[in-house]
Amino acid sequence: MVYLTRLEHFNAAHKLYNPNWSKEKNEAIFGECANENWHGHNFELFVTVKGVPSEETGFIMDAKQLSRIIKTSVIDKLDHKNLNMDVDFLQGKICSTENLIVEIWNQLQPHIPSPVALHSLKLYETPRIYVEYYGE
Ligand code: NI
Repeated sequence: MVYLTRLEHFNAAHKLYNPNWSKEKNEAIFGECANENWHGHNFELFVTVKGVPSEETGFIMDAKQLSRIIKTSVIDKLDHKNLNMDVDFLQGKICSTENLIVEIWNQLQPHIPSPVALHSLKLYETPRIYVEYYGE
């Protein structure tokens, strides 16, 4: 089994805000991330798939094809968007990086062509904070 990783990038705005809490509690829990007028991040998304290299191509899958799948199923919906307001699959969710990576998995996973499988996602919100997800 070989693991292939593609790195993609998007910029997006969000705020962390629980509508069931007061403004004061949101600010106490989320700090600057609760700023009502939003803030942005340069997200880096690492997508790792796994499979057996083809005898004909030596590839698990064409990395350009993987890039196109990530772009159409995820990046086009997130890049230069307000995550709280513009993204259908994040409606009603707190736009934490943790929730975002799970929803990215749900969008991407059905588009990965069998027998290749999605193995993991890694999502950097800042150069020093990232989350990982393995679909479980
Ligand atoms: Ni943030």
